[in-house]
Amino acid sequence: MRLTLKIWRQRGPLEEGGAETFQLDHVSEDSSFLEMLDMLNEQLNEEGIEPIAFDSDCREGICGMCGLVINGKPHGNDGTGSNTTTCQLHMRTFNDGDTITIEPWRATAFPVIKDLVVDRSALDRIIQAGGFISANTGSAPEAHAVPVQKSKADRAFEAAACIGCGACVAACPNASSMLFTGAKVTHLAELPQGQPERWKRALAMVAQQDGEGFGGCTNIGACAAACPKDIPMDVISTLNGDLRKAPSRV
Ligand code: FES
Repeated sequence: MRLTLKIWRQRGPLEEGGAETFQLDHVSEDSSFLEMLDMLNEQLNEEGIEPIAFDSDCREGICGMCGLVINGKPHGNDGTGSNTTTCQLHMRTFNDGDTITIEPWRATAFPVIKDLVVDRSALDRIIQAGGFISANTGSAPEAHAVPVQKSKADRAFEAAACIGCGACVAACPNASSMLFTGAKVTHLAELPQGQPERWKRALAMVAQQDGEGFGGCTNIGACAAACPKDIPMDVISTLNGDLRKAPSRV
C-alpha cells in the first residue's frame, strides 16, 4: 500500500515543532505500525534525511514504551473495537492511499524530547513516591501461606495489567494521570502485603502526581476508553476512597 504520513518533527525540547509530510510505498499490510516507521526511517537514511525518533522496546504490548497519537487517538484504532498498543497495531487496519497523522503524547508532564519521543519519567517518580511495599517477604512462600480472597486477587491482577504507557494521560483533556495512579494504588491495596503502607502510599503518590503537573480527574472517562490494557475507571474510585480514609490512619 501507498501511504501519506504527516509526522510531528521537533529537534529538541525547546525547539518549535511542526508536521512534515512523507510518502511511503510498498508497505505490507502484514507489517506492524512500528515496522512501517522502520521502513520510513530506512528510506530517510538513504535520502540523507535524519530518521524520525520514536520509542519502542518489547514490541509485544507488554513494556509500555511505545506510544503515539495516530489519527488523533492514543495508540491508534485497530478496528476491532478494543484497544491495543502502538506496537501491536498492524497496517491491515489502514487502506491503500490513506493519510495518517502521527503525533507524540501531548501533556505538560510529558515534555517532547525529540520528534515522537516524550519524557515519561514523571510516571516513574509517582511509582517511586509509594508504588512499592517494604515488607520483607523473604524467599518464595508456599502459595497458600497468605490467603487472598479470589475477588481481591482478580482485582489486583486487573489493576496490575497497567503497563505505564501514558495513553490515559494523552487521551484525557485534563492530562490527568489518575487512571495510572489508581491502577498502581489498587493493585497493592487489594493484597495483604500492601496494607502496612496503604494510606501513606495513596497520599504520597497523589502528591507526587500533582507536583508533576498532571491535571485533575473530572470523570470524563477518556482514559479508560484509550487504555490498551482495559484498566477500569473504578480504580480511581479506590484511589479516592483511600485518599479520603488516609488522614485519620497515617
Ligand atoms: S514496545 Fe513494548 S508495549 Fe509497545
